[in-house]
Amino acid sequence: MHSLKKLFTEALQITEVAKVICLCGKSLIIKNRNTLVGFLGCALCVGFGQTFAMLGSSVDRARFASNLKTSIAGIMMKAPVLIGSGAYGFGDQPSDCSKIGAFVTKGLTLERCIGNCSHVYSRLPHGNMLNSVGLKNPGVRDFIKDILPKLSEEGVPIIANICGGTIEEYAELAKLLDTPRSVAGLEVNISCPNVAAGGMAFGVSPEIGARVVEAVKKSSRKPMIVKLTPNVTDITKIARAVEIAGADAISLINTLQGMDVDIESGRSTLDPVFGGLSGPAIQPISLRMVYQVRKAVKIPLIGMGGITTTEDALKFFMVGADAVAICSALYNDPSVAGKVVDGLFAYMEQKGIKSLEEIKGAALNQE
Ligand SMILES: Cc1cc2nc3c(=O)[nH]c(=O)nc-3n(C[C@H](O)[C@H](O)[C@H](O)COP(=O)(O)O)c2cc1C
Repeated sequence: MHSLKKLFTEALQITEVAKVICLCGKSLIIKNRNTLVGFLGCALCVGFGQTFAMLGSSVDRARFASNLKTSIAGIMMKAPVLIGSGAYGFGDQPSDCSKIGAFVTKGLTLERCIGNCSHVYSRLPHGNMLNSVGLKNPGVRDFIKDILPKLSEEGVPIIANICGGTIEEYAELAKLLDTPRSVAGLEVNISCPNVAAGGMAFGVSPEIGARVVEAVKKSSRKPMIVKLTPNVTDITKIARAVEIAGADAISLINTLQGMDVDIESGRSTLDPVFGGLSGPAIQPISLRMVYQVRKAVKIPLIGMGGITTTEDALKFFMVGADAVAICSALYNDPSVAGKVVDGLFAYMEQKGIKSLEEIKGAALNQE
């Protein structure tokens, strides 16, 4: 660690020295442009200077890169930016995974589920959306057999999002996903608003939420992230209950229940009638909830809800999130998560910040 630090310090010094060599060389070229030897000597000097400056700045960049590395519930990530559940499906929707910290699958159930069939998306203005997709998925066994091997080739930690109709189903899902090494962790979805049984029903009761967590904990050694619903009166009660029951981290928020109406038909645009609202419109609510939950629990938090830009992500870190996830914005721009990672590097460089720890929780304790 010490020698690495020394290397970085030296690299920074090299960058500065190289820049000076470069500048001197350039001014000498102007002075010596009449003598061939002088000109060539100085041009060589500029070349060396620029090469060293480039070397120095790439090490410099690596220094910042290492500072975005994080570990959430023991899952090592190269950046604290995740692709949230639903955005990348099972690898079948376009998304650039090259810079992100982890990828969360769409919700998995024990058996194959066809989800809701038609009228499942309603695009709203300003990048917002309503969806009633439900839990369309191939079932956990086919996922492990056919999809997981291909997904692992992305070289990014895979977090499996699971949703049961009963507590026993959650336990069974966790047990089946405990074996594959390429599953880095579980996201226990006790918050899906678009299913007839289970889903959100588990996430609105602290007692039942805790029982799901205990059952999953008994069935799996994988790190467990519990995903909370915003469709509750007091989210902190659920957060505390799942922390006590053994959750390793919490992710929040899932979508808010909403609806839209087609004024030609006079009917809901979605089938079933209600759907989950996501995108920029829900951001103030998710920020408020991450803020509240940060004060209520000690385990790591993954904040999400309406993140489209680096500035949005920074707000989540400032209310105490340890990582962020992006979902709806990826439907408009598959490379948005990578852009947010780049933006975080740029922000840290510009502000001279060595780690996001320096800004984490900055907006807390203002009441
Ligand atoms: C089309 C769609 C499908 C989703 N599917 C899931 C899912 O299967 N499991 C889950 O936990 N969350 C699911 N979500 C919720 C997102 O992961 C996220 O919590 C929510 O959309 C808020 O983030 P956003 O505003 O960045 O989209 C889905 C969201 C959308 C838009």
